[in-house]
Amino acid sequence: MTEVQNPFTPHESVVPDALTTVLLGHNAFQFMRAGVELGLFDLLERSPGASRQQLLDELGLQERALDILVLGVSSLKLVERRGEGYFNTQSVADLFTGGHWELVKAVVGFEAYVTYPGLVDFTESLRDNTNVGLRRYPGDGATVYHRLSEDPELLQVFYHFMGTWSAVASKHLINYGDFSTSRRILDVGGGDATMAIAVAKAHPEVEVTVLEIPKVVELARKRVEEAGLSDRVKVVEGDIFEDAYPEGYDTVMFVHQLQIWPQDRIRVLLGHAHAVLPDGGRVMILNSMSEDGYDGPLMAALASPFFAAVAGEGGMLYAWEKYEESLKEVGFDSVLRTRCTDAITPHGIITATK
Ligand SMILES: C[S@@+](CC[C@H](N)C(=O)[O-])C[C@H]1O[C@@H](n2cnc3c(N)ncnc32)[C@H](O)[C@@H]1O
Repeated sequence: MTEVQNPFTPHESVVPDALTTVLLGHNAFQFMRAGVELGLFDLLERSPGASRQQLLDELGLQERALDILVLGVSSLKLVERRGEGYFNTQSVADLFTGGHWELVKAVVGFEAYVTYPGLVDFTESLRDNTNVGLRRYPGDGATVYHRLSEDPELLQVFYHFMGTWSAVASKHLINYGDFSTSRRILDVGGGDATMAIAVAKAHPEVEVTVLEIPKVVELARKRVEEAGLSDRVKVVEGDIFEDAYPEGYDTVMFVHQLQIWPQDRIRVLLGHAHAVLPDGGRVMILNSMSEDGYDGPLMAALASPFFAAVAGEGGMLYAWEKYEESLKEVGFDSVLRTRCTDAITPHGIITATK
């Protein structure tokens, strides 16, 4: 009997891991999600070296289900077996010790429940140059934020994520942002006021006003009250495009805001800020940034499809120079970039003076 030759060389017959992770990437995310939601990583943080029986008992899984989970999280190098015990790998353990695990869990919730449904329309969104995926969310609100605010559970998932993300990012704003000439700050689309609260706490001489849509105003006011800052942090209802911005502010902040919109709409927002600021007044943009030339970073790339396909009218995590060009176009003359170099996210601040 003649032996059948493998027509592929060993190199050609094996799909490289990096390609597999991209091709089947949504499955990789589901293993991460299952590990988080079933409590696997938390269990291994509490009980490093837990036995298989302990995993079965404490996660409440049947044998086959545990086999699938272990196969996935081991292959993805999230969990490893040493002898008879299971451990989080060093990169997962570092997220716990570095205080980032709550953020990881919040991102998993956001990706699983807010992002996933709309991302099926990513290609269509690129083709039509607009956020086609918004059609996957019930209601007729103009943005995903308006639609989420009709669904209390999703609203909670989103603002848990947004607040946790912004609590981490607020440290960069405080460390790297220059508030030396700021006394009255307008925070445009300031979410649940996480950022406004952080700035007010760090700068006792400063007052902040958050501008938001109605349901989010309720959420933000509650957070401000809990923080005991109602005397210095105000939350007002308004549409950031339709209504002229209130007067009397020396600083207008756009935090995680401009990536939601196309550039012509960004210029409308920056134009509103320019119109209301006195000479010497400033705009501060805090955002994850892409590099000029769009060759990275990876996190900015992978966070962009949500803004392209779902969030507002079609956006992305733009390169620094895109914001700088728009700021100059609406009349700001001095524009300064500050990289948040010690951040685990690609955050940066652009400060522009009128
Ligand atoms: C990505 S979130 C950022 C929230 C906050 N700046 C932060 O960093 O935590 C964008 C926010 O913009 C608000 N927003 C979107 N469109 C708006 C509009 N037309 N008027 C007022 N707020 C709006 C949303 O409700 C949402 O809270």
